[in-house]
Amino acid sequence: MGSSNVLDALRHGPVTVPTLRSMKAAGLRFVMATAYDAVFAHILDEGGVDVILVGDSLGMVIQGHETTLPVTVEEMLYHVKAVARALEKRRLQGQGGRPLLVADMPFLSYQTDIATAIRNAGRMLAEGGAQAVKIEGGEAFAQTVARLVEVGIPVMGHIGLTPQRVHAMGGFRVQGKSSEEAERIFMDARAIEQAGAFAIVLEGIPSSLAKRISQALSIPTIGIGAGPDCDGQVLVSHDFLGLLPGPSPRFVKRYAELYALGVEATRRFVHEVQNGLFPAEAHSYGGPSTQKEK
Ligand code: KIV
Repeated sequence: MGSSNVLDALRHGPVTVPTLRSMKAAGLRFVMATAYDAVFAHILDEGGVDVILVGDSLGMVIQGHETTLPVTVEEMLYHVKAVARALEKRRLQGQGGRPLLVADMPFLSYQTDIATAIRNAGRMLAEGGAQAVKIEGGEAFAQTVARLVEVGIPVMGHIGLTPQRVHAMGGFRVQGKSSEEAERIFMDARAIEQAGAFAIVLEGIPSSLAKRISQALSIPTIGIGAGPDCDGQVLVSHDFLGLLPGPSPRFVKRYAELYALGVEATRRFVHEVQNGLFPAEAHSYGGPSTQKEK
């Protein structure tokens, strides 16, 4: 294959775990975004994202919790299955289904012991239909990552600001601002790469540290609040689509204002029903005409 065909295949062919490393090697930036249901799977696939993450952020975005901590394995599976079904349908209908599907491992589903981690991660693949899992944590989780990889479960790492440690961090705070902290995060990245992770999310760290890690690792880095030098970028879809009320954090760019659009459309619907304008004839079914109408 010529080099432009290779690039074309990487950009447009199905994304597998090895694809992301090839994209890094070819200098191609890639995109990951979150989906928690079938509608978002359709939108993101059609929009061209490379990786869909069913993030435990669904605890905050969908369930309305203040943190991701209450999310359970069963709840994750429910959402992973919904996304996987939509992607499979798109594949079968020749509409796409290109993105790699990654399932987040929720709090306490992998921290207690390795057997529990394997069982829960295995369920994300076997029952959920995901192709990989993501786990938060650095050096302390290297052994867990290595065992998961050994049994055939591809792992995406996640270091820096790790939301499952929100209380230990004293809030959702940028990590790695001091040189000691930055060094620890760098060592975490190295440990997770050596354990066999195929990619690693860098969240909430200074751009300079993310750049250093991205240059040092052979596996791709995926940044969120980690500056422009990562190999890929990830955002929560409800954030970049402007679907949530209130201001967004600094690292989010809103590419649409769907919350405002939704409110406006709802107001028009309410107004039209209240004033007898909806449903019109175009939205109504005909039946046998009465004698009088004839
Ligand atoms: O849960 C999530 O959505 C995440 C991403 C923001 C990386 O972990």
